[in-house]
Order: sequence, then structure tokens, then C-alpha cells
Amino acid sequence: MDLIKIGIIGAGGMASYHVKGFTQAGANVIAMADADISRARAFAASWGIPKTYAGLGEMLKGSPELDAVSVITPNKFHKPLVIEALEGGKHVYCEKPPALNGAETAAMLEASKKAGRRLMFNFNNRARPEAQAMVNYIRGGKAGRINSAQAVWIRRAGIPGFGGWFTAKALSGGGAMIDLPHMLDLALYFMDYPEPDYLLGTAYYDFMDNKAFKGPWGIPDSAKGVTDVESSCHAMLTFKSGQVLMIRSSWAEMNERETAAVTFQGTRAGGKIERLFAVDGIDETSADICRIFTEEGGNQVDLAIKTPKDESMGRIANAANFINSLTKKEKPLNTPEEALVLMKIIDALYKSAASKKPVQIK
Ligand SMILES: NC(=O)c1ccc[n+]([C@@H]2O[C@H](COP(=O)([O-])OP(=O)(O)OC[C@H]3O[C@@H](n4cnc5c(N)ncnc54)[C@H](O)[C@@H]3O)[C@@H](O)[C@H]2O)c1
Repeated sequence: MDLIKIGIIGAGGMASYHVKGFTQAGANVIAMADADISRARAFAASWGIPKTYAGLGEMLKGSPELDAVSVITPNKFHKPLVIEALEGGKHVYCEKPPALNGAETAAMLEASKKAGRRLMFNFNNRARPEAQAMVNYIRGGKAGRINSAQAVWIRRAGIPGFGGWFTAKALSGGGAMIDLPHMLDLALYFMDYPEPDYLLGTAYYDFMDNKAFKGPWGIPDSAKGVTDVESSCHAMLTFKSGQVLMIRSSWAEMNERETAAVTFQGTRAGGKIERLFAVDGIDETSADICRIFTEEGGNQVDLAIKTPKDESMGRIANAANFINSLTKKEKPLNTPEEALVLMKIIDALYKSAASKKPVQIK
């Protein structure tokens, strides 16, 4: 089979991980597009990508041999670009969050079905070695039934720029919750994506005008830009199966340090996977934890699963999985049907926060 040819749209912070993952799986990255052509050219020059374009339309026309397109733009552009690429007959890999909301994600799912092309998202945390080790443990039946789980991504001072696209709801869809959907997705993955029932949640807007809470990365501040999204969200989600999930996401809260974790409690074992980040870019300590809590022979037992370190948090492995799913070497690590469930949960969280009432998810 010929090598998969892929083009990337959006030369921002995530593009290098996509290139590394696609090429690791044997694909050829042949085109780079960015609305700012100078960014496309600079990126293409440093990664040896032969063709550059100022937009997806130009790229589809100029490089008709493309098999697939990768979308790495601000969230507002995911839906139109993904649908245009699918309708152009390309398989599509798209950054998280899938789109601004569930309705857009449903339209993207429909477009992929209609075109008969793969649509996969960058829920990179599923591809982390410790997440794969944990899911194998769970799918092997060793955890029993997962009754409850907690999905947490908290930052102390991690607002990704003031007035840039991340903080403008019209461009991003929301703040900490929609930007950090990874642990919610991972908890749902561990629980085997049960059908959601009710959600009760809150959102807070503290520190969104306080430069002391800006992250050490992200995009530059824009004095003319809008800042109208939440800094943190907390919610409780029940499932029709009787399971329950607590959700907590923040860009800025009075926390000890940045951590991303899923903990769960099963009838045979509980578990935890956690990334402790270097403290807001200042401290050098960082750790990946993968532990099982169980009972054996009348004793309470803790197990530590040892896996290789992956500084990229699965970003390279997930992009490689997309290519390997096209060449039928691997199953895709996520589906657009799951993405739709995730986005309906995020919609419900914003709705519940605004109405102060529980929301039934249909
Ligand atoms: N998976 C992860 O860990 C992770 C981390 C950071 C960001 N992201 C996601 O990646 C996406 C991009 O984020 P980023 O940090 O790279 O943003 P960024 O602002 O650094 O880069 C976005 C690029 O897209 C270009 N662009 C904007 N609109 C365009 C359009 N319509 N057509 C072509 N190019 C366009 C911009 O010129 C810019 O170069 C977002 O969806 C974000 O949520 C994912």
C-alpha cells in the first residue's frame, strides 16, 4: 500500500506533535496550511514539508493526492474545516475539543458517515502508556464494575492568555471545561462510555482579569480581545447504569500545583492515573502515577503499574494511531460517537451552571 499522504491546517503549538506521530507511523506530511501563510511557511521549512497554503480550500485544490487532513486551529474553525475536508473525500484528524458544542459535533459525525471517511480526535491522554495499561487492566475484568470516578484537571495559575481566542467564548466555546476535556474523556473511556443521565454543575469566573493567574505558555494577550469564559467548573454526573462521575476543571484556582488525574472505585479494585506537572513551569518535578488499590487474601494491597515515560502525554502516539487506523494496523483509539457524548456532557455543564438546575442529557 502507498504511504498515507497527510496535510496539516494550523501551524500552532500542537503541529509538531502531529508531524512526529504521523511520520512515526509511516505517513508523509506533504502540505501545511495556515490563515497566516508566513506561519505555514516557517513551520514547513523547519519540518521539511514541501507545500504550503493559506487555507484548506487552497490545500485541497493544490494537493488532491492527500488521503487525510489534520485540523489544529482554534475551536470555532473545527466544524467547518472538518466537514469541508470530509466532503472533499479526506480522512480527518482533529484537535480537541471536537467543536464548540454537541450540535456541531453531531454535524461532523454525520458528515463522516456520509463521506465514509474516518474522523478521529486528539484525545491524546488515552494513548499514554499508563492509560493503556489501566484500560487493559479494567477491560480484563480485574477492577470489576466501576461504580464511581473522579475526573480532575486543575491548574493554579494557568489562564492561556487574556483576550486571545482561548478566552473568547465565540471562538473557544468556553474556558477551563471545554479546554481541558481530557480527564473527563479518560474517565468515560475507563467506564466504557456509559449513557449519561443527569448533570448538576457550577462555573466560576474568578481571576479572569488577574494577570497573576496567567499560564507560562499559551498565546499572547490581546488588549482588544474578549475574556468571557469560566476559570473553573465543578459537576456531578450520573449515568443510566447507576454509575457516577465527579468532574473538576480549572485554569485558575487556589490549588497546590497543576495535576491531571482520573481516580475510580470498582467492585474488585480501584485505581488512579495522575500527571503531576512541574509546578507552573517553575519547579522541575513532574511525575506520572499509575496505581491499583485492591484486596488480596484478606489484605489491602496497592500495586504500581510501571510504564515507559511519555513526556508528550500520548500526543505523538495518538497521531500515530490515527495513521495506523487508516492502514488497518490498529483500531482507532476514539470515535466521533464518543466525542458527541462528551460534548453533550459539556453542553449540559454550561447549561446547568447558567440555570443552577440539574440538566437531563438526551
Ligand atoms: N491536545 C492537546 O494537548 C492540545 C494542547 C493545546 C492546544 N490544543 C488544541 O489545538 C488547537 C489549536 O491550538 P493552538 O494552541 O495550536 O493554537 P494557536 O493559536 O497557537 O495556533 C492556531 C493556528 O491556526 C491558524 N488558524 C486560525 N484559523 C485558521 C483557519 N480558519 N484556517 C487556517 N488556519 C487557521 C492560526 O493562524 C494559528 O497559526 C485548539 O483546538 C486547541 O484546543 C490541543
